[in-house]
Amino acid sequence: MPRLSTHCSNCMNILGISGYYHDAAACLVRDGEIIAAAQEERFTRRKHDASFPIHAIEYCLDEALVKPHEVDYVVFYDKPFLKFERLLETYLAYAPRGFKSFATSLPVWLKEKLFQKNDIINALSDLFGNETEWSKRLLFSEHHLSHAASAFFPSPFEEAAVLTMDGVGEWTTTSLAIGKGNQVTVVKEIQFPHSIGLLYSAFTFYTGFKVNSGEYKLMGLAPYGEPRFADLIKRHLIDIREDGSFYLDMSYFDYAAGLRMTSKKFHDLFGAPPRQPESELTQREMDLAASIQAVTEELVIKLARAVAQETGLKNLCLAGGVALNCVANGKLLREGIFENLWIQPAAGDAGGALGAALGAYHIMLNKPRQALQGMDGMKGSYLGPRYSQEDIVQRLRRVGAVFESLHEEELIERTAHALAEGKAVGWHQGRMEFGPRALGGRSIIADPRSPTMQKLLNLKVKYRESFRPFAPSVLREDLADWFDMNADSPYMLLVGDVREDKRRNMTVDEQKLFGIEKLNVPRSEIPAVTHVDYSARIQTVHLETNPTYYKLIKRFKELTGCPVLVNTSFNVRGEPIISTPEDAFRCFMGTDLDVLVVGNCYLRKESQNEGLAMSYMNAYELD
Ligand SMILES: [Fe+2]
Repeated sequence: MPRLSTHCSNCMNILGISGYYHDAAACLVRDGEIIAAAQEERFTRRKHDASFPIHAIEYCLDEALVKPHEVDYVVFYDKPFLKFERLLETYLAYAPRGFKSFATSLPVWLKEKLFQKNDIINALSDLFGNETEWSKRLLFSEHHLSHAASAFFPSPFEEAAVLTMDGVGEWTTTSLAIGKGNQVTVVKEIQFPHSIGLLYSAFTFYTGFKVNSGEYKLMGLAPYGEPRFADLIKRHLIDIREDGSFYLDMSYFDYAAGLRMTSKKFHDLFGAPPRQPESELTQREMDLAASIQAVTEELVIKLARAVAQETGLKNLCLAGGVALNCVANGKLLREGIFENLWIQPAAGDAGGALGAALGAYHIMLNKPRQALQGMDGMKGSYLGPRYSQEDIVQRLRRVGAVFESLHEEELIERTAHALAEGKAVGWHQGRMEFGPRALGGRSIIADPRSPTMQKLLNLKVKYRESFRPFAPSVLREDLADWFDMNADSPYMLLVGDVREDKRRNMTVDEQKLFGIEKLNVPRSEIPAVTHVDYSARIQTVHLETNPTYYKLIKRFKELTGCPVLVNTSFNVRGEPIISTPEDAFRCFMGTDLDVLVVGNCYLRKESQNEGLAMSYMNAYELD
């Protein structure tokens, strides 16, 4: 595959970096165009790797054919000194209760974070030599400005309101900005410790999931529950004003002062200590999940309404970790408060790298920006490494894979037939996705019509039992025939319902089933991707951004009448999504995947040397 990037001597190359907290990443922006972006975890194979993103930086420069001395600016996504100030002031505000947290974090901050500027310069010098004066090229962006820039600059809008919500950046936890032309101006902020992200994370912790990664599970659990605690949450924990501003009662939390998310008072309010991780889930956790989800949705909608009223703008852009709450996003879309909604696919801190670079180019250097007519600047978020067919063949040969090299038409034909026969397929195609979702570049795909597929894929491939259904990839033009939605959702960030005429109602007995048992009852023509409340986390597939995947689904539709595939990330539980062809082969051999497609290479499990299969199940720490 030819490289699209070409070298140019007069271009402005800006390298954005995020890291040291979680989800380290790098991004290269050339003259305002996003050329490459990737998360460090994909290279180091350590999930949420926060270390200085050496590998991601090397990849970005390599992809852009840029030498280190040709990098005009390096921009870090937040300001270490502002974070230090927050720690110090939090300590003062909560002393002496805050002393424990402060005493624990202060030495770390003094040693590592406060001198982050030196660390970054040293790391860049180690990587590229110190003949370049990195200190003169190093800039720092503010955390929420990085998020806001990542939401607005790649969006298809000339003008938009920009809402960022996450756990905590420096001081800000929620910000409202206006994006116009080449500028993003922050107009309102809600500051730490009042944070909707941290409130959600407190419930993630309380229900026994991992903070910063288990939020998705909590969201997936919500449809099983009743929001019977929502009033309690609003009466005691959070005061939501009509304009969407909010205040938390800090006596229920321990994250500002202690080292845990929730305090004893919190546990007393809900009448029990936190659930032990991996212990059995009960109706109570489901009700808690439904409750915090309902409160989050109410807050997001109130905020959005206030923003729409204040600004009179028709477009809304979202970023920050809370923007990954696709259920709340789907509601926001259905409420119709804004005419158009665009969400940065790398909404978490990894995407901060991208916003930092774009912000430096447009805001600081005042370079013009042209919104792309009718499309965004993310290139489908396919911004990561790619491999030529020749390279793939060599890499697969080296690891002892047995494969056939096929022309595209034959490849699609065979894969579509395999899918229709119920086979689970590993799909490694084109550039790797930037952001937490697999979008048909590094995906496991299957037939959504099968009533056993959800269970089978979870137990035999992903090594987990999940109460979450998989996400559907659907051809954009067929979206409205299958789902109650009619908007682009290329990044799997919107939830919509399966259409009524595709549903199958549960019998009275089936309705009495509990939890995951309910998920095993087919509730629609595409049960593997239908949640218990008939919702689905939808990815619309577009010919322009992923032609091979598009053609595959189209052929699958011709064979089966169904323009939908199951799409789940290509990894096992706890493992970062695969990156290289070798990663793909390893995962293929370590799981019960039937077929692997890497570029134009087609691999059948039964043709492989069994001796190459390895135990993979316990290779990664549980997420
Ligand atoms: Fe953030």
